[in-house]
Amino acid sequence: MCIAAAGLLEAGASSPPTTSLTEEEQVRQLAKAPFANDLGPEAINVSGYPSEMQAKYEVFKQRCSKCHTLARPINAQFASAKVWERYVKRMMLRPGSGISGSDGKAIWEFLSYDGQARKTARRAEFEALRRRLLHEFKARYPQRYQELYAGHEDEVVKVK
Ligand code: HEC
Repeated sequence: MCIAAAGLLEAGASSPPTTSLTEEEQVRQLAKAPFANDLGPEAINVSGYPSEMQAKYEVFKQRCSKCHTLARPINAQFASAKVWERYVKRMMLRPGSGISGSDGKAIWEFLSYDGQARKTARRAEFEALRRRLLHEFKARYPQRYQELYAGHEDEVVKVK
C-alpha cells in the first residue's frame, strides 16, 4: 500500500481512495469531509496576544487553510502543546502540505499559546461552543455525526 493510502486508512476514510487521483488530490478530497469544528468561527481575535504570537498567527493562517478552512483547527478540542505537536506533525506529513519545519514550529508555538489562552483558561465557555457545534452538525450531517461523534460526545467536547 502506498503511504498516502495508509494515511487515508489511518484517518478513518470509509472507502479506498480512487486510484486515478494523485496523492495530493486524495488528501484534498479527504480533507473535504466535514467536522463539527468547521461550523464555528474561522478567525481568532489575536489583538491581545503578544506581537510575536500575532506574527505566528499569520503563518498559521497561511499554511493551515490549504486543504480545509481555519475553522477546523480553531474550533478543535485540542489545546495542549503535547496534543498540538502530534497534529501539526500529522498535517505537515500529508502529501502536498507545503509546510516547512520552521513554519511547523511557529504554528505549533502559536496553537499551544492560543490553546492555553482561548481554550484551557476559558474551558467552560469553549466546551459550550463545542457542544453547540456538535448539535448543529448532528442536524446537518446525521450520518457523518454517527461516524465521528455518536456515543462519545462528552469526550469530544472536552478541551485536551
Ligand atoms: C495537505 C492538506 C492539509 C493541510 C495543509 C492541513 N490539513 Fe488539517 N486535515 C487534513 C485532512 C485530510 C484532515 C482530515 C483527516 C485527518 O484527521 O487527518 C484534516 C483534519 C484536521 C483536523 C481535525 C482532526 C481531528 O481528528 O479532529 C485538525 C485539527 C487539523 N486538520 C489541523 C490542521 C492544522 C493545524 C494545519 C496546519 C499546520 C492543517 N490542518 C493543515 C489535511 C490538511
